[in-house]
Amino acid sequence: MLRHKKVLLGVTGSIAAYKAAHLVRLLVKEEAEVQVILTTSASSFITPLTLSTLSKKPVLTEFVKNESGEWHNHVALGLWADVMVIAPASANTIAKMANGYCDNLLLACYLSARCPVYVAPAMDLDMYQHPAVTANFEKIKSYGNSIIEASFGELASGLVGQGRMAEPEEIVEVLHQHFTDLHIA
Ligand SMILES: Cc1cc2nc3c(=O)[nH]c(=O)nc-3n(C[C@H](O)[C@H](O)[C@H](O)COP(=O)(O)O)c2cc1C
Repeated sequence: MLRHKKVLLGVTGSIAAYKAAHLVRLLVKEEAEVQVILTTSASSFITPLTLSTLSKKPVLTEFVKNESGEWHNHVALGLWADVMVIAPASANTIAKMANGYCDNLLLACYLSARCPVYVAPAMDLDMYQHPAVTANFEKIKSYGNSIIEASFGELASGLVGQGRMAEPEEIVEVLHQHFTDLHIA
């Protein structure tokens, strides 16, 4: 189902970033082509080495590649993707998506992408329910993005509530459904 599908996977700064490794494994197992983009914050939570090994591609974080001025073409990456997934999506990145900010490679790709975008938030329960955050969810949905709701359970803070990033298996299932619907349409 995901064979040869081009998936642009954005990973942001959340404790749930470790789940991105499993998500990449599942996608690669299905022979999807996965290009991972990390925010700078995300790379404190999970190493580019882990994700580049699993995705079999260099992980991208910065606009500019090296001192000679080579750069990562966010417009080309945005156009390359069949689907973009941001998992985990932090409150910070969601706020930036809602307001058109473009201060990192992930956001530049998001703004350049013509493909459908799925956002899997992860945050503590009070953040998840904060009116500013819920307003940003609504805003990004109004732009045509889809939210893969966080689940209920124990959070990294020790509190219990909604905010756990959807499990990688659930995200893969959403992608299956996405491509099935496209096929039928
Ligand atoms: C240990 C730790 C865990 C964090 N977990 C989350 C989280 O689950 N969700 C979230 O929205 N922010 C979380 N944050 C805050 C983000 O890392 C912070 O807002 C950061 O600026 C996000 O940057 P980014 O959106 O560019 O990746 C956490 C911070 C720390 C130090």
